[in-house]
Amino acid sequence: MRHVWPPGGPDGELDRDALAALYAHPAPTGRPFVRVNFAASADGAVSVDGRSAGLDAPGDRTVFGLLRELADVIVAGSGTVRAEDYRGARTSEAMRARRRGRGQAAVPPVAVVTASPALDPGAALFTDTRVPPLIVTTTAAAPAAARRYGSVADVLDAGDLSPAAVLDALAARGLARVLCEGGPVLFGSFAAAGLVDELCLSVAPSLVGGGPGRILAGPGLPTPLPLRLAAALAHDDGLLLRYTFVRSGDNP
Ligand SMILES: NC(=O)c1ccc[n+]([C@@H]2O[C@H](COP(=O)([O-])OP(=O)(O)OC[C@H]3O[C@@H](n4cnc5c(N)ncnc54)[C@H](OP(=O)(O)O)[C@@H]3O)[C@@H](O)[C@H]2O)c1
Repeated sequence: MRHVWPPGGPDGELDRDALAALYAHPAPTGRPFVRVNFAASADGAVSVDGRSAGLDAPGDRTVFGLLRELADVIVAGSGTVRAEDYRGARTSEAMRARRRGRGQAAVPPVAVVTASPALDPGAALFTDTRVPPLIVTTTAAAPAAARRYGSVADVLDAGDLSPAAVLDALAARGLARVLCEGGPVLFGSFAAAGLVDELCLSVAPSLVGGGPGRILAGPGLPTPLPLRLAAALAHDDGLLLRYTFVRSGDNP
């Protein structure tokens, strides 16, 4: 079944177990699995006043938390970490137990992709977290990053910081189920490299108008990028979509 209404029908509650089955990762293939999660307004805006907070769709916090729970690592660009004042993933004891049961670390770390490690070591990312974040940076910047962040973060040397190098550095840590939470520039670089498997998009029941950008930005994008709709959940006035990417060699 490709199109799925919430169990119980369009007016039903979002059932956690049914959602977990819907968003379960495919069997490992030996390469990282990259899932991207975004919220947008009905007219495609990625932010309101520079943040995503105004784009809540009914049900999207449930899916947001579930996607984090299923991931090995939560990846974001430095622009998003600053704009959204990122902190460590919130987990309940039940979530941590489910993760341990799947053979995952109890808490998924946040990994920040940045070539110029200039985040404030006093920011919530470093101080309000159960596990240290990962700073994924270039070979050239790694020594300075290690000095700057000291014991409050783990620094990963990801070569030239190309998307493939970022994924390799994470995979070397056993972090193969990647949840990329944006922003648009980081998503754009992964999409341009052909390294995205899935896009989860919540559509808020609101219009924002011109000004804010869209979920994808940056150079080198072979647009339009075709997508396949894997699932669509309607919950109250919100729409929760799951698309898979059409990779070269896929059947049309
Ligand atoms: N609606 C949503 O779901 C959602 C989700 C996320 C973000 N947002 C919004 O998006 C905005 C921020 O987006 P953004 O596009 O400016 O930031 P971003 O994609 O989070 O960060 C971009 C920055 O990441 C660093 N970077 C390092 N390596 C990179 C690589 N290989 N590819 C791309 N970036 C790399 C660069 O900064 P360095 O100088 O540090 O290297 C780059 O400027 C905010 O307004 C935020 O609220 C919305």
